[in-house]
Amino acid sequence: KLSLYSLNALSLQSAYLMYSSSVAAGAQSGIDECKYQFAWDRWNCPERALQLSTHSGLRSANRETAFVHAISSAGVMYTLTRNCSLGDFENCGCDDTRNGQLGGQGWLWGGCSDNVGFGEAISKQFVDALETGQDARAAMNLHNNEAGRKAVKGTMKRTCKCHGVSGSCTTQTCWLQLPEFREVGNYLKEKYHKALKVDLLRGAGNSAANRGAVAETFSAISKKELVHLEDSPNYCLENKTLGLQGTEGRECIKKGKNLSKWEKRSCKRLCGECGLAVDEQKAEMVSSCNCKFHWCCAVKCEQCRKTVTKYFCVKRERRVKNESTSRKNIRLKKKH
Ligand SMILES: *[C@@H]1O[C@H](CO)[C@@H](O)[C@H](O)[C@H]1NC(C)=O
Ligand SMILES: *[C@@H]1O[C@H](CO)[C@@H](O)[C@H](O)[C@H]1NC(C)=O
Ligand SMILES: *[C@@H]1O[C@H](CO)[C@@H](O)[C@H](O)[C@H]1NC(C)=O
Repeated sequence: KLSLYSLNALSLQSAYLMYSSSVAAGAQSGIDECKYQFAWDRWNCPERALQLSTHSGLRSANRETAFVHAISSAGVMYTLTRNCSLGDFENCGCDDTRNGQLGGQGWLWGGCSDNVGFGEAISKQFVDALETGQDARAAMNLHNNEAGRKAVKGTMKRTCKCHGVSGSCTTQTCWLQLPEFREVGNYLKEKYHKALKVDLLRGAGNSAANRGAVAETFSAISKKELVHLEDSPNYCLENKTLGLQGTEGRECIKKGKNLSKWEKRSCKRLCGECGLAVDEQKAEMVSSCNCKFHWCCAVKCEQCRKTVTKYFCVKRERRVKNESTSRKNIRLKKKH
């Protein structure tokens, strides 16, 4: 089985021994970002979903599959590019091909631009190589791998330095820099929400004519957009066949500093809209606090206790039963 986790092993067999640690680190950062971006979604980037090859048992082709492919190839390209700029590879360094040329009004290319061309080429060889089929699903995966690489390119930032008498900034030199990887993740999450569905699975033979139709369909879609072939299953429900756990038992968040709208609605999305109730659980946390430094040389701390409230999705029956019995109790109390 080929998966993100075995990219490292795969690369050992290839001629790109040199890049394998970077590719593995990039694939891992893709996984981490996927888990971050979907932490409060019904689908939360479970390990099962991270099988990249179309030959793994799970051949889903939905919106989530599209995201996994895009963020993985983006992660690999990103890390390779960063490694290159840091001088981790002998055969690669800054992209200075445009240095000295006019870039725009009042600025010239200069300095050390991150070498995305290098990252793009190598990641393409590693990640796209996992796609050996020639059907619509393989075409979809390759399209989304490309969308991930486009996302890295598209979120790069121009950084400039002023020149001229005492920093008067009469001319500037500028270079292109990778953003934080989080920004690539945010960008791809937006693309995920707007992913396009193409209807290619009906009559999904592998004839030459069909392959032509598949190629034609994909070439008409912008390489920046994520594409999927199937609708997503109901992620509220457990489905062992599909390897889905459902949202029962999931934690959600209600209170906290600086929560986004998306986070604030997590209990509704994970529990309420899935027919589950929200269960409040209090837990006591003990931690070191009020630490003082004593001369010399010891640090003494107190043990502080803090009650934290957590929320979980639970089956409704239990809650309803409890409520009805408590209502009965109240009535009984009133009578007496
Ligand atoms: C590339 O960077 C990653 C983390 O940023 C690191 O784990 C890896 O070892 C680096 N690769 C090389 C070849 O230096
Ligand atoms: C699991 O998902 C498949 C495919 O969507 C569906 O046919 C099946 O009925 C589902 N099973 C359960 C138990 O929901
Ligand atoms: C969230 O916190 C950060 C700093 O931690 C701040 O810059 C940002 O404006 C805050 N956002 C909201 C919505 O309060």
